[in-house]
Amino acid sequence: MHDGFAEVVSDRAHDAAAFAFTPEVEADTAAIWDKLKSKVTPLEWRLNAPLISKINRLKRQKNAVILAHNYMTPDIFHGVGDFVGDSLGLAREAARSDAKIIVQAGVHFMAETSKILCPDKTVLIPDLQAGCSLAASITAADVRLIKARHPGLPVITYVNTSAEVKAETDICCTSANAVQVVEQAAKAWGVSKVILIPDEFLARNVARQTDVGIISWKGRCEVHERFSGEDIRELRAAYPGAEILAHPECPTDVIEASDFTGSTAAMTDYVMSRKPKQVVLITECSMADNVAVDAVDTEFVRPCNLCPHMKRITLQNIYDALLHDQFEVTVDPAISARARAAVQRMIDLPPPAIPARYDLVKARHHVDVELI
Ligand code: 13P
Ligand code: SF4
Repeated sequence: MHDGFAEVVSDRAHDAAAFAFTPEVEADTAAIWDKLKSKVTPLEWRLNAPLISKINRLKRQKNAVILAHNYMTPDIFHGVGDFVGDSLGLAREAARSDAKIIVQAGVHFMAETSKILCPDKTVLIPDLQAGCSLAASITAADVRLIKARHPGLPVITYVNTSAEVKAETDICCTSANAVQVVEQAAKAWGVSKVILIPDEFLARNVARQTDVGIISWKGRCEVHERFSGEDIRELRAAYPGAEILAHPECPTDVIEASDFTGSTAAMTDYVMSRKPKQVVLITECSMADNVAVDAVDTEFVRPCNLCPHMKRITLQNIYDALLHDQFEVTVDPAISARARAAVQRMIDLPPPAIPARYDLVKARHHVDVELI
């Protein structure tokens, strides 16, 4: 046998033994299995449980926490996430964490936000290619151009942006607090118009909630822009009793045809508190999988779109990230200080008593945004 081949075979055999589903692994992960057993096959579990067990041990050894976004697959979300939630919730957790290492189970802008808020901690992302179409849609130079065209207006950027873009910003927002941030910024600046970038659809949906005028940008989420009002009407016809919840990154005709709109945390809150018999979540696919684990009395109808960036994060690369301290996310200190001011202003806003919802009565007033 060729030497190299023998080495590969022996490595695999070693790996197979190290990642075996042993009685110790079974005991270690019993509580998680109990939660996931109606959603995961026993075969899948035998493959995932050893990794889950190793990741949870490594976290303890290294004083690390995993911040997992609602779009992570259930093995990550329920198996290894220490804090789970929407972009706003994860940013708040990063700010208050006293762990030495943060592993961001999410996309790159989320890891950068954690690093901006915790410059002294090591922030790791399991795959550096986990990007975002919204973050890629705008650069710091674009923001400087917008500011030059509209001097004196506050610049609000969605957290789905790079650190350089945040550094050009007065205050950040997420889908959970965009209306609140727009209204507070207009009041604080004493103006009737603000710049809200880069998500065109979030801006259009926010414009329907407020009398503040909005100037925006043509960025789009590649996951949510693919839903249409026609999809929602077809769903209504096929599932007449289902309650339809849509994310505010969706086009306006989707929001108009839906029953409720809110951030991923607001959708979870809706399902857990109202316990609808049948629900449709118009968003990324893992969202329904994760909520369904806890919402046992609700039936989920599942049209959804996958986010290819979120799906780059796996149990295997989370394990590799923790084991090898890879891949570290760094932000230039001068950029970071300016970006931190914008993120911190958002964090310092009083949290809404319940996650923000988009009032669909007001939403039916068609107020448009000015696109640059
Ligand atoms: P929220 O979790 O803040 O609603 O954001 C959704 C999203 O698309 C993040 O990438
Ligand atoms: Fe970006 Fe959309 Fe993916 Fe979220 S779901 S990371 S906004 S592309």
